[in-house]
Amino acid sequence: MARYPFTCALVTGASSGIGYEMAIQLATSGVPVIAVARRRDRLEQLAAQFKNIEVMVADLSTPEGVGQVESRISDSSKTPIDLVVNNAGFGSSGLMHEVDVDRLSREIGVNVLALTRLSHAAVNAMVPRGRGYLLNVSSIASFQAGPSSAVYSATKAFVTSLTEALHAELSGTGVRVTALCPGFTRTEFSDVSGTLSIATQVPEFAWLDATDVARAGLRDVARGRTLSIPGAIYKGLAAVSSAFPRALVRRITAFATGSR
Ligand SMILES: NC(=O)c1ccc[n+]([C@@H]2O[C@H](COP(=O)([O-])OP(=O)(O)OC[C@H]3O[C@@H](n4cnc5c(N)ncnc54)[C@H](OP(=O)(O)O)[C@@H]3O)[C@@H](O)[C@H]2O)c1
Repeated sequence: MARYPFTCALVTGASSGIGYEMAIQLATSGVPVIAVARRRDRLEQLAAQFKNIEVMVADLSTPEGVGQVESRISDSSKTPIDLVVNNAGFGSSGLMHEVDVDRLSREIGVNVLALTRLSHAAVNAMVPRGRGYLLNVSSIASFQAGPSSAVYSATKAFVTSLTEALHAELSGTGVRVTALCPGFTRTEFSDVSGTLSIATQVPEFAWLDATDVARAGLRDVARGRTLSIPGAIYKGLAAVSSAFPRALVRRITAFATGSR
């Protein structure tokens, strides 16, 4: 069983996939967890397995839902939260002008706006205490433009950029900030994001396990890493994306996603 330096964690998107696995790993290690998502039944099933998981139902595409979580992070009358994991997120598939614009707005709302506000609340509470951990779940998609998931890749580019900047800003404050950048991971993501046709073309060896991704993210934020990129293939991809000319990376990505 892993030992973590956290005393109380809040994990968004804890009803399935990577966030669910993080909540289990933290609770199993004795860290109390506030599990946030929209699906109450899923969260209650999770909480029924552990005495130290508390359920918070919130829709992070709405100002009310985000406000509810911000209030808990900032509430100094309750147990201070020293790990915030901004994991909730989803994507959309297709040419941008053909995807419902309200869906894209919700995607930006959850992936960018909610994550930014909750990062702000977390850091604002942690800096005066001189310690804390913020783990923002980005994606390998953040390292290059993504034809056929243009908005999703752009939201994740925002997450990686914001998180790297916060990591630098908070150096020396005792607050550690990490971006977790997974590649293809077996979760409900493909169903929700309409990317099943892409997912079925991904070779078996390229798939990551949500348990391993969750473990890597928690380990790397505890160590104060800037970026956490699970899997040798994806570490290589991230390095190539940064080293190659942008025009070449764009062409390769467009070809690989079938957009050209
Ligand atoms: N799976 C991959 O291949 C992959 C790769 C790179 C990055 N990621 C990132 O990893 C993160 C977790 O995704 P996953 O793969 O674990 O997918 P998932 O199984 O679909 O889980 C997504 C989680 O986000 C929550 N969520 C979605 N919309 C929400 C909203 N409006 N309000 C509150 N919670 C919301 C969902 O809960 P409810 O539906 O119950 O609200 C669910 O718990 C995402 O940020 C995703 O972009 C995934």
